[in-house]
Amino acid sequence: MLEIPWTEKYRPKNFDDIVSQNIAINNLREFVKNTNIPHLIFTGPAGTGKTSTALIIARHFLKEEELDTNLLELNASDTVRIDFVRDILKNFVNQSFTKNGSLKFVLLDEADNIPGQVQQALRRIIEKTSDNIKFILLCNYINRIIDPIVSRCAVFRFTSLPKKKIIDRLKYITEKENLKIPSNKSEQFFNQIYFISGGDLRKAINTLQMAVALELLENLDINEILRISGFLDKLTLKNLISAIKRKDFISSKEIIDAVEILDSRNFIRQLSEMLPILDLDPSKIINLRTYIGEIDYRISQGADEYIQISALLANIIEYIQI
Ligand SMILES: Nc1ncnc2c1ncn2[C@@H]1O[C@H](COP(=O)(O)OP(=O)(O)OP(=O)(O)O)[C@@H](O)[C@H]1O
Ligand SMILES: [Mg+2]
Repeated sequence: MLEIPWTEKYRPKNFDDIVSQNIAINNLREFVKNTNIPHLIFTGPAGTGKTSTALIIARHFLKEEELDTNLLELNASDTVRIDFVRDILKNFVNQSFTKNGSLKFVLLDEADNIPGQVQQALRRIIEKTSDNIKFILLCNYINRIIDPIVSRCAVFRFTSLPKKKIIDRLKYITEKENLKIPSNKSEQFFNQIYFISGGDLRKAINTLQMAVALELLENLDINEILRISGFLDKLTLKNLISAIKRKDFISSKEIIDAVEILDSRNFIRQLSEMLPILDLDPSKIINLRTYIGEIDYRISQGADEYIQISALLANIIEYIQI
């Protein structure tokens, strides 16, 4: 099946297509009325429209045939060797220098993964480049970008998309693609995809396309969709909850071990939604939420997932009163 990914097929082509992000988009509409724009930083969670918006801005100023010469896309891994970046930029700036001094854009993806030393060098490059070169830095965490760079850019914050916006977009694609979703289950289906996406529209669209590719829509097998996305299916989750409520650590561990595809951070998100039904007293729930945040962070930083999940289960079970 050589269909192009729907995330690309439905990539927003202009500001009106961008879902949500009203504050950023409304300000950017004003910005682009002028060619004298500052360098830009778009920051926010994955799949919220940063790259799409950067491309819309570049296309706003550039003709289709100029895109090859006037738009340079670099990734954090390209910038590890700063000499390489210098060379590329030098070529980019000099190459077919446009008569009317039209703008050129450097899109720097994953800018927050660029090491600090390299960012310092980059800052000098940004300072020295002529006014017709505009940098657009994309990142998930702006606090990982050095202040001297941040202070040279206008910062726009992108936020996780709300449930309704994600579901509306999924319904739009469903309609365009002529998908048949059993109407009695459609509400549950979209809710579940939203949950899986965690506010990341790219993930939501990919999950929808995957469900179609795997022919899961006909009988609408929501449990299978959960499983392949690295979550526990409903029955497994139910069994786990009852093992936890019985304070049965061994069984809860066995249930987790038997799961074929387990994405530990997905699992943590799923489990944290279950806290209210575990009959813990509210003060304990607060402690647990703090602990869950800690475990999630440790895993994000590369801690052993198996050990962290065990620790989390043990901790929750300790708080259960029988
Ligand atoms: N705000 C949005 N409006 C419409 N579509 C969106 C939006 N955000 C994401 N999408 C969809 O998700 C895809 C990926 O979005 P995009 O590449 O802009 O995300 P991003 O914010 O750059 O994410 P990352 O941080 O992972 O690079 C788009 O092609 C589009 O289909
Ligand atoms: Mg991006």
